[in-house]
Formats: sequence, structure tokens, C-alpha cells
Amino acid sequence: MSALTLPVDDGTRARSQTAELQVLAQRIRALAKRKNAVILAHIYQRLEVQQVSDFIGDSLNLSREAAKTDADTIVFCGVHFMAETAKLLSPAKLVLLPDMKAGCGMADMLTADQTRDFRRRYPGRPLVSYVNTYAEVKAESDICCTSTNAVRVVRSLPDREILFAPDKFLGAFVQKNAPEKKIISWDGYCPTHFVIRPSMVEARKKLSPDALVLAHPECAPEVLEMADYVGSTQGIMDYAARSHRREFIILTEAGLLMRLKDLHPDKRFHSIAPCPHCPYMKYVELEKVLTCLEQERTPIEIPTDIMSRARLSIERMMAIA
Ligand code: 13P
Ligand code: SF4
Repeated sequence: MSALTLPVDDGTRARSQTAELQVLAQRIRALAKRKNAVILAHIYQRLEVQQVSDFIGDSLNLSREAAKTDADTIVFCGVHFMAETAKLLSPAKLVLLPDMKAGCGMADMLTADQTRDFRRRYPGRPLVSYVNTYAEVKAESDICCTSTNAVRVVRSLPDREILFAPDKFLGAFVQKNAPEKKIISWDGYCPTHFVIRPSMVEARKKLSPDALVLAHPECAPEVLEMADYVGSTQGIMDYAARSHRREFIILTEAGLLMRLKDLHPDKRFHSIAPCPHCPYMKYVELEKVLTCLEQERTPIEIPTDIMSRARLSIERMMAIA
């Protein structure tokens, strides 16, 4: 490295990085307009990716948006199963995921073979699968759910015993809120939420005793016991916006914390230490969003036989949600 390009510590680098991101964002917006593309982003995305998007939401709201858009192309800034859901709901559109490595640790815990085996072990019970599954698993399921509507979806079924996959923690949350049902859960979980432990919450509460604790239902039951509110990413956003309280401890992924801080500079939001990061969500970067739009890569494709069956499980959910 020459002396001229040595990093400087007076804020110049941070400023030029911001300027670079602004130029990228402008190019992305112009290209999206020219190509009649809509950019959808999950709340766990990097802040600069959220800021360039047309719509930011949780899994359920993103599905609704994907179903109703009249754009020719959907650029999905999120993870693979979310982009697949958009494709299931808008099969005629080009759905692009900026980086195919953006998978999901929880979705990886359940294959189609394992799903069939799970069903064989409990014949006659309906299978509710969390939207955090790949299309081939959805194709083996009766109905899907998201963290927003999981309790509603389970309650809509006439059966008492219900198979639930892949998230055992969301399954436990549903069981608590629908005690009339018997939930039989698959043994999966989200690796990002799994690391949140009660001792971390206690340590943060000692530092901020007046803060309300807001948690995602992918956290373990013993963590959810400590929460003042449990809800989806959008649920947490809405709760924090509505609340007259000024200080919150957020028990979910860092992207949501960043967004809350950005939207409500008058309120205080804390994470536990260390702050949970979903590595899959962070694969999507602004440069990749631009390349993806320019070169129309990488498109989501779903085999036809899987497509129709997987779509049915999503449509059944959409009819309830
Ligand atoms: P939401 O449905 O709450 O957006 O959650 C999606 C997700 O992957 C959380 O880990
Ligand atoms: Fe999957 Fe967890 Fe990341 Fe959500 S936070 S995308 S469930 S690994």
C-alpha cells in the first residue's frame, strides 16, 4: 500500500464510504425504474439495503407485497426461502436473489425426505410448516405459517394434534397460545436466535432496568418468559412505535435494531451482548443488488411439480392471514 492510500482516522474514510453507497443507491433506483423492478427487503437486511428498497417488511408482509406487485421483476433482498415464496406467489415474474448463498440455518434443518418421514411417523395429522422452509418442504405440507400468523393458522385447523416444522421454539410458543391443541414439533431452531440466553437478558436488564423486553418467537421458551412482548419482526417494530415507553431491549437480529434506531432517534434501543447477527441475511450487499439488476441474476427457479403443491400451502395460509 503506498503512503497516499494509507487509511486515515479523521472520518474521511467513513464519509467516502457513505458517498460511495449513495452513488450505488442512486444507480440501483434508476435501474429499477427503467426495468420496472420492485425491490423488497426483509427487516434483517443491512440498513443501506433497506434504504434502497421499495418495501421493507416481515415474511408475511413481504409475501403479500410479492403477490400484489405489478412489477416485471422482483429483487428480493432477504434469504432464499423468502425469494422462493415470492416466486411461488408470482410465478410469471422474474424473481432475483442478489446472492444464492443467502440461505437459512433453520430451513437447512429439514429436507423433503425428512418431512415425508415425519408425516409417516404421525399419520393422519396435518403438517403446518413455518415459511422458513424450502419449496420442496412446503410441497409436503398442508399449510404454511409465518411468525405473525402461526397461532391463527394452527387454530384454523379442525384437528387437535398438529405437526409443526421446523422450529421447535415457535412450536412451543404456539402450544402456549393454543393450549387446546397438541403440537408435535420437529427438532429445528434458528441458530441466530438460539444463542440468546436468559443470563444475557438479565445482564442487559441490570444496565437498563426501565427498558421493556421485546422478543421474536424464534427465541427459546426460557428467554420468551422474560419478555414483555413477543412478536414477529413487524410486530416488534409496531409495538416499539406505538409504545409510550422510551427504552427497549430487542431480542432478535441486529438489522431490526438498526432500523428501530434509524426510525426512532427519540427512543433508546439496546441489544444483548453479543448482538445476534444472521450471517445469511448479510450476504446481500448493495453492490450485489446492482449487479443482480444489471445482469438479471440470480433467478429463482422452482421445478413445476413442486411449484403447484408448494404454492397451495402458501395460498391456504394467505387465505387465513
Ligand atoms: P419474520 O417473519 O418475523 O420476519 O421472521 C423471519 C425470520 O427469518 C426470523 O428469523
Ligand atoms: Fe434463518 Fe434464523 Fe437467519 Fe431467520 S435469522 S433467516 S431463521 S438463520
